[in-house]
Amino acid sequence: MTIDEVTRRRLLQAATEAADRAYAPYSDFHVGAAVLTDAGVVYTGCNVENASSPLAICAERSAIAAAVNDEGPGMGLRAVAVANAEESPCSPCGACRQTMAEFGDPVVLFTGEDDDLVELPLSELLPHSFRLD
Ligand code: THU
Repeated sequence: MTIDEVTRRRLLQAATEAADRAYAPYSDFHVGAAVLTDAGVVYTGCNVENASSPLAICAERSAIAAAVNDEGPGMGLRAVAVANAEESPCSPCGACRQTMAEFGDPVVLFTGEDDDLVELPLSELLPHSFRLD
């Protein structure tokens, strides 16, 4: 599964705008995510931190929650883009990869260690994801 250039730009732009809305007073790392669903709709999310640090929610899971809230439990993910205000490397954490795996095998876009744009299917980022079936 691949995405076209227009969709790629649209998702990265939406993720960058979402990063501006992040609540990240503790890390000062403002992250945004944009997900494209099988229904063709884009939802965004940002990280929301807390004084009790383990309660922080990442941008990716925040966007996925917004998508499920709107489309219901049948929501499927086609693509996920992640961005941050500094445009520094930002690979989705393990918890977010596992959460994405619940909803399909989306293309995942993010800035890699060499500042290059990484675009990989989730199944390559998280092989052997945990499943109950
Ligand atoms: N964070 C995300 O929102 N997404 C990621 O992919 C990695 C980390 C957030 C969590 C926390 O608020 C901050 O970045 C620093 O770890």
